[in-house]
Parts: sequence; C-alpha cells; structure tokens
Amino acid sequence: MKLTEAVNAVEEALPLRRFEHTMRVAETAGELASKYGGDADAVQMAAVLHDYAKYRDPEEMLQEINRSGMFAYDIEGYGTEILHAFAGALLVEKELNIRSSVILQAIASHTTGRAGMSLEEKIVFLADYIEPGRTFPGAEKAREASRHSLEAGCLEACAETIRFLSGRRLPIFPHTFEAYNEFAFMQLSER
Ligand SMILES: [Fe+2]
Ligand SMILES: [Fe+2]
Repeated sequence: MKLTEAVNAVEEALPLRRFEHTMRVAETAGELASKYGGDADAVQMAAVLHDYAKYRDPEEMLQEINRSGMFAYDIEGYGTEILHAFAGALLVEKELNIRSSVILQAIASHTTGRAGMSLEEKIVFLADYIEPGRTFPGAEKAREASRHSLEAGCLEACAETIRFLSGRRLPIFPHTFEAYNEFAFMQLSER
C-alpha cells in the first residue's frame, strides 16, 4: 500500500478532527525520525495508520483482540481507550494488507507503550503524545525531554500516563509500567 492510499483510508475512517491529529502525528514522527533515525518509510506509514481503528465498536475490537490470541488474558477491564491500538494493528493487516511487523508493532504499542520498543515504535508512541495539538499537562514536558533523547521523551509520556490514570484510580495496562521502568532505569544509569 502506498502512503497516499493509507492517508485516503484513514481520512475515510476518521472524523476530521482525528484525521488532522493523524497528520500532525505523521509530521512530528517524521521530525523525530530525521533526528533519531529508524526506518523513515515505516514510521510514516505507522503514524498515518496508528488511529485507523479508533472509531470501531469496542465490542468488535475486543473480539478481534481476543480471537487473535495477542494476549493470554482478557484485557477488557483496562478500558476501551487502549483497544484501538491493538485492534488497529490487527485490522490494518487484515483490511489494508499491511504485512510489515515494524509498522504493525508501532501501531499496536502506540497507546500503552511496552518494554523493548523498537526505534520506530518509540517514535510513533512519542509523536502521538507530543504532536503540536496536544496541550494537556505533561505534553510540553515530554516535548522538551524529546529534544534531549527519544527515551527521555518516552519516560515523560509513560510517567504522565501513569500519573493521569492512577489519579483517577483507573487500571493501568502492565505494558505501560514495564515501559516506564525500562526508561527510568535507562535514565538512572546515565546520571
Ligand atoms: Fe490512538
Ligand atoms: Fe493518536
């Protein structure tokens, strides 16, 4: 699939506001890739497709995820917000015939992060968090940290996500804790 075809597919799948967010994520991801490296084409494709499944029925997404065997446990309790990332990877493979594991993995981890993210995953995860339309507290801190390193930016994003969810006493997906710890250990070792 060509990038322009992917853009058309998401323009059709998303409301305008979300489509504009997607385009800003793609631009921010492009900037991060030119600074930090990675497969720039895969980063662009993953950024364009990252929210492909955002407006699907949560029940359908959950079924898709459970059927895939992606997780050994039922992830329903973690809330609907994280579903579109995992379901998105499955659906772009199935519906748009995307086969690149680099692209699919970057879509799958864009909301929760995970330990051991590839360069491309970190870029898409961070770009989604810091694109210029993001104004929530923490976005600016992550933006600032991302000027120093990709990992410092990701650490801020994970820390703020954990702070936000725990502040509301909501469950936190284990991948986010694992990513947070990885980046926190990394930063400790650099002190
Ligand atoms: Fe998303
Ligand atoms: Fe997004």
